[in-house]
Amino acid sequence: MDGIYGEYKPVLEKIKDDIQCRIEEYTQKEYETSGIKIYEHLIARVKSEESMSEKCRRKNLPETPESALKKLHDSIGLRIVCSFIEDIYTNIKYIKSFPNCKVISEKDYIKHAKPNGYRSYHMILEMQYPYTDINGNTPGNFYVEIQLRTIAMDSWAALEHKLKYKKNIANQELIIAELKRCADEMASCDISMQTIRDLITE
Ligand code: GTP
Ligand code: MG
Repeated sequence: MDGIYGEYKPVLEKIKDDIQCRIEEYTQKEYETSGIKIYEHLIARVKSEESMSEKCRRKNLPETPESALKKLHDSIGLRIVCSFIEDIYTNIKYIKSFPNCKVISEKDYIKHAKPNGYRSYHMILEMQYPYTDINGNTPGNFYVEIQLRTIAMDSWAALEHKLKYKKNIANQELIIAELKRCADEMASCDISMQTIRDLITE
């Protein structure tokens, strides 16, 4: 089979679907007990072969399944967008309790925003599935990237992403500072909204 994922493409799709189901499952369970829908929306994707090839070139890696599945960890990616900050940490608690799942990296850009203002919680999971992996092991290990954000963080990231690709713009410094200011204001709204919910549910 052609393409950067080679014979692994269908397996990646199956794993992505399985994780999405598990998230929907615990969300339903949480809703039945607390009445809170702990995510607002969810995106699950296998990174397109074009983007994966482009990323390998950018990182000076050969465009092979080895690079895509062993060196890079985001071939399978899920983004969980939540209404409130607290819901992000509830999702994380459930994700950490998945069976056959090891968290190999965590970055809390919510508590520690990037210098440009970017906020999100990133996790890389190593998950075991009854499929053969790139090392020839069955069951095999597969990497999954999960990003968790509030709606406000997601809006900011989407707009910043669009603007990032406009090169050679005037007032670079001002624009960077303004984007950062927007990110900080949106973060402050997230905290206020969380406080309002806490007051209501007290
Ligand atoms: P990659 O080489 O892209 O995997 O970066 P990394 O390994 O340093 O991981 P990091 O956690 O910084 O970011 C990975 C992903 O988070 C990116 O592919 C984006 O989806 C998102 N991200 C990180 N920083 C930014 C940012 O400044 N703006 C936006 N819009 N998205 C970001
Ligand atoms: Mg990454």
